[in-house]
Amino acid sequence: MDLAKYGPWALIIGGSEGVGAEFARQLAADGFKLVLVARKPEPLEDLATELRSSGAEVRVVSADLSKPGVLDQVRTVTDDVEIGLLVYNAGANNTRGNFLELPREVPDSVIAINVLGQTDFARHYGAPMMARERGGIILTGSLGGYLGSPTLAAYTAAKAFSRIFTEALWAECQPFGVDVLHLNIGFTATPAMARLGMPIDMAEPPATVAREGLENIANGPLWIVSTPGNAERARMLSVADNRGDLVRAHAIRPREETGKAAQEMKDMVGNG
Ligand SMILES: NC(=O)c1ccc[n+]([C@@H]2O[C@H](COP(=O)([O-])OP(=O)(O)OC[C@H]3O[C@@H](n4cnc5c(N)ncnc54)[C@H](OP(=O)(O)O)[C@@H]3O)[C@@H](O)[C@H]2O)c1
Repeated sequence: MDLAKYGPWALIIGGSEGVGAEFARQLAADGFKLVLVARKPEPLEDLATELRSSGAEVRVVSADLSKPGVLDQVRTVTDDVEIGLLVYNAGANNTRGNFLELPREVPDSVIAINVLGQTDFARHYGAPMMARERGGIILTGSLGGYLGSPTLAAYTAAKAFSRIFTEALWAECQPFGVDVLHLNIGFTATPAMARLGMPIDMAEPPATVAREGLENIANGPLWIVSTPGNAERARMLSVADNRGDLVRAHAIRPREETGKAAQEMKDMVGNG
């Protein structure tokens, strides 16, 4: 990763574990200084210690992206440094349920993190990049953002928002030398997924996902992680016109059946 273009500091939102931690490790190896943001202080401190032991300068912020004022909290450790790269990684959904039955806090939190958080942080850290005429922004999305999924209404909609938002931001920033990428992630072996009981032995390693994001930052607006089937799935969900069947096929399934549901959907599009 080109330190002169995207450095000297990288800010990783959701940077304590999984894909975010791998972004941190790979950027530290390339000489970046890092600001890492997450809620739990312990994994943040553990990762910071690991990175500092190999020479990296690291600052951490324990903050909850679903709460108001989080940008101000992060600014307390970034206002005196030059953030040349913003990676907005956090955004997984851990509570499923019908939108009309869920407590309001659940979808509100998903929207705060994935929609308001991505736009707020992109605005605040992107504007100085544009003035400097260099820098990069990676916003993470999901293959889930191509189809409304019952029990994941706010999450799937928020990820669709992120993809469309990033495309426009990419075009606006390109003339100013700022690279913007929507990193579209499929099933990945992160601690968050493990805690949900997902069969992560079948999933993409987080280091691969982070590496593809960094290597393709200049290939925006969209990079779909190259796990076999990901790009095909995105394409078919974008063009399929039997959407009702597809949405129903995605209706509540045990998480262990994720792979089976994806295959059924693929078959349905093939036959549709
Ligand atoms: N893993 C997958 O299979 C998969 C599939 C498609 C898309 N994605 C996308 O990939 C990204 C990373 O996913 P992930 O599975 O690693 O889980 P994640 O929970 O979105 O990300 C983990 C990181 O974000 C932090 N984080 C989570 N919620 C936070 C909050 N409210 N405030 C501050 N920090 C927060 C976590 O630390 P703390 O818990 O300590 O806060 C951790 O450092 C997400 O945007 C997700 O939607 C993942």
